[in-house]
Amino acid sequence: MTTTDPIKLGIVGAGGRGGYFKKTCDAIDSVSIHAICDINEEGLATAKEALGAKEAYLDYEEMLDTSDLDAVLVGTPMQFHVPQSIAALERNIHVLCEVTAGVSVEECKELVQACKRSKAIYMMAENYVYMKPNQIVKELARQGLFGTPYYAEGEYIHDVKEYALTTPWRRHWQMGIDGLTYCTHSLGPILQWMPGDRVTRVCCEAAGVRQQDSEGKPYCQAGSTMLCKTEKDALIKIRVDLVSDRPHAGTNYQLQGTDGCYESSRGGPWDKDKVWLRSRDENYRWRDLALFSEVPELAEKYLPENWRNASEVAKRAGHGGGDYFEIVDFVNAVQGKCPNPIDIHAAMDMTLPGLISQQSIAEDGRWIEVPDSRGW
Ligand SMILES: NC(=O)c1ccc[n+]([C@@H]2O[C@H](COP(=O)([O-])OP(=O)(O)OC[C@H]3O[C@@H](n4cnc5c(N)ncnc54)[C@H](O)[C@@H]3O)[C@@H](O)[C@H]2O)c1
Repeated sequence: MTTTDPIKLGIVGAGGRGGYFKKTCDAIDSVSIHAICDINEEGLATAKEALGAKEAYLDYEEMLDTSDLDAVLVGTPMQFHVPQSIAALERNIHVLCEVTAGVSVEECKELVQACKRSKAIYMMAENYVYMKPNQIVKELARQGLFGTPYYAEGEYIHDVKEYALTTPWRRHWQMGIDGLTYCTHSLGPILQWMPGDRVTRVCCEAAGVRQQDSEGKPYCQAGSTMLCKTEKDALIKIRVDLVSDRPHAGTNYQLQGTDGCYESSRGGPWDKDKVWLRSRDENYRWRDLALFSEVPELAEKYLPENWRNASEVAKRAGHGGGDYFEIVDFVNAVQGKCPNPIDIHAAMDMTLPGLISQQSIAEDGRWIEVPDSRGW
């Protein structure tokens, strides 16, 4: 494959999340949806037509073996992410895999080994890191405007009880296990604001409240909160709550550094993403983060290039543009035009703390070391 050939993409889980990427792929010349796979026979033909794929498969391994694919997008339920990623990597087919990377530490280890053996790349599709505010904060942090970051918070509070009726896997893998089962949307952006750092140990607790489903079966404990200490001695607090009755608040973030701080909007019509930076304001005074994209002199300096030149398709893409930019970055990484932005170790740094938090909460909040996948 030369770098100018469009990447032939296969999408597994095409009837669900995997089906969200048609507009993005249509807008990018360097990728085409070649094949799709889904075990749901009834929806397969519809998904094939909706995504404009040439081929459709009910069996994933058959797609990998039969179709002429360069890459796959794994958009199936979480428990299939590792086995399906490994199956592709073993065939040297590049992988863009939905979050989280895996559902157990053991299978994550197997994934890391498979990445080491493969000639193909693995990227985790953590789309929240691409949202405009998160990208601006990343750039401000990269340019040192927060000084040394030493505290951050991320929250993903999203009542998904209703979804569990149509996606039963969620009932177990996201809402049936105490601890953080879905932490990458919160931890992912924060880790990008603390480059070169990683979480080394975590503890996790939750209120003891357990709501019940319609069959009287208890959900996981509500509002699990994980504290993380990092290699550079920063503290990060992550709250994930997928079961409490309340409005959605999936993008709550905070960052505190020696020379500035950021607080995302807490939602509702009255709040804004806001930042204080010592270098711009001697006095403590919030500034609207949007200024960094709206004022031309600021945008030129602090709005990352992908957002400065964002097309209408990118701006309108799902999850604040994340569903567009993650595909662009993946395709560019496959074609060797940019480094892999969320490689296997970055994916592990975002995923493993949540898995270890499940062990911590089972042991009444004990602090537990988070393994470094670079040593596996
Ligand atoms: N990044 C995000 O913002 C975001 C948003 C939604 C979902 N997700 C992730 O995407 C994944 C899928 O979520 P969803 O809401 O689409 O779930 P879903 O259950 O609605 O859809 C999954 C699809 O995969 C198919 N499928 C299931 N097992 C399969 C298998 N073994 N082989 C082939 N196809 C199979 C199902 O038939 C279904 O069409 C999950 O991991 C979820 O965490 C991420």
